[in-house]
Amino acid sequence: MPFSDSFTWGTATSSYQIEGAHQTDGRSASIWDTLCDREGAIDDRSNGDHACDHYNRWSEDLDLIKRLNFQSYRFSIAWPRVLPNGTGSVNPAGLAFYDRLIDRMLELNIRPCVTLYHWDLPQCLEDQGGWPNRDIAEAFVDYTRAVVAALGDRVTRWVTNNEPWCAAMLGYHEGRHAPGRSNLYDAVRASHHMLLSHGWATQLIREEVRNAEIGIVLNPVPGVPASDAPEDHEAHRRFDGVFNRWYLDPLYKGTYPSDVLDDYQEDTTFAGKDYSFIEEGDTKIISTPTDFLGVNYYSRGVIADPNIESRSHRIPDVGPEMRTDMGWEVYPTGLYDLLKRIHDDYDVKALIVTENGAAYDDAPDADGRVQDHRRTSYIHGHLAAVKRAIEDGVPVTGYYVWSLMDNFEWSFGYTKRFGIVYVDYETQERYPKDSALWLSQVVKAPNEWIK
Ligand code: FCB
Repeated sequence: MPFSDSFTWGTATSSYQIEGAHQTDGRSASIWDTLCDREGAIDDRSNGDHACDHYNRWSEDLDLIKRLNFQSYRFSIAWPRVLPNGTGSVNPAGLAFYDRLIDRMLELNIRPCVTLYHWDLPQCLEDQGGWPNRDIAEAFVDYTRAVVAALGDRVTRWVTNNEPWCAAMLGYHEGRHAPGRSNLYDAVRASHHMLLSHGWATQLIREEVRNAEIGIVLNPVPGVPASDAPEDHEAHRRFDGVFNRWYLDPLYKGTYPSDVLDDYQEDTTFAGKDYSFIEEGDTKIISTPTDFLGVNYYSRGVIADPNIESRSHRIPDVGPEMRTDMGWEVYPTGLYDLLKRIHDDYDVKALIVTENGAAYDDAPDADGRVQDHRRTSYIHGHLAAVKRAIEDGVPVTGYYVWSLMDNFEWSFGYTKRFGIVYVDYETQERYPKDSALWLSQVVKAPNEWIK
């Protein structure tokens, strides 16, 4: 049977996207609070001040997860709640929230999967230079120590960082995510310090937590060149380097890819600078053995040289029915290709799909029913791809759907609905969508449902 009894079925969220309560119980500001105040940064001018009010509704949200039959819940801890000054003294009230959450999860027999960093860096640490500053990687270890001391007796599944490509490149190079900076040299340093912080945190969790299962979550993207043109092949090599090999190589081979090191240096922001921020021994720390790799998958890339024609860089030319509300192509085969490639090239011990899902705007009808058949079909297709990968020998051990509920989708604000549960932001009422009800059946008999 491809989906064995030990396969984990879960759903995922992150702190800033759902919690709200931005000033409650001593939470300090994060870089996302700051970015949201910047004119033009967020499509609908919204922010995470209230979000899904999960900070107050956590108990009913856990009941919902239970009713939907999920065995595990992946959520993230807000660093600004735990250490409002970034380092130093721990804020007991902030930690108590997660304490309650985890206790209740264990009562309900829902396995916690804790993500330590899902992008809400305390603003005070950004003020000290943010992730391009190596000290922040050390601060991350202090933060990890505080969380592990409080929760490590009950949590065994740990994710260090979520999608360092996004946090580093969208945050420090493209400027679309917090902290909204635009400098490639800073972004590359940020990515290195995120990976380093992952290695250090892994070592710490390994020492402190019995039976810990530790991993990092990446957003690797399967790509193909758009044509046989050598320019497209070259564009694809660069794309694969920046999105995939830059992270997978140091994690699993203990070295950064030399072609990508060269590519980055072509950027003007590197002028007069070098890679001395990669200190001796760093890649050894980054490649500290872990227990699983978390893979977030939404779509693939069809890569064309942007200079040859006015072709879009990443999105293939498919009709609207093959795209989600993000404009992303629905391409389940890409998930199979990705899992297979990571297995073949990096021999990872276990792979967990830590995020997969789709934004569609279906709303409740008069009876409160949300008929989101496009999302159900999206998830079904991707689960079939996971199944095929397992049948072909890839050790995939879990699947977490993104997301439990509609939430604050970063620079898109509340305009994109990824939830399997609809959230009415006026009343904060939750409406399980048809996809959620379908998944709750799948979880009970996956080998019958997913053919
Ligand atoms: C991923 C993020 C997650 C959510 C989904 C749609 O990149 O990890 O928080 O925004 O995309």
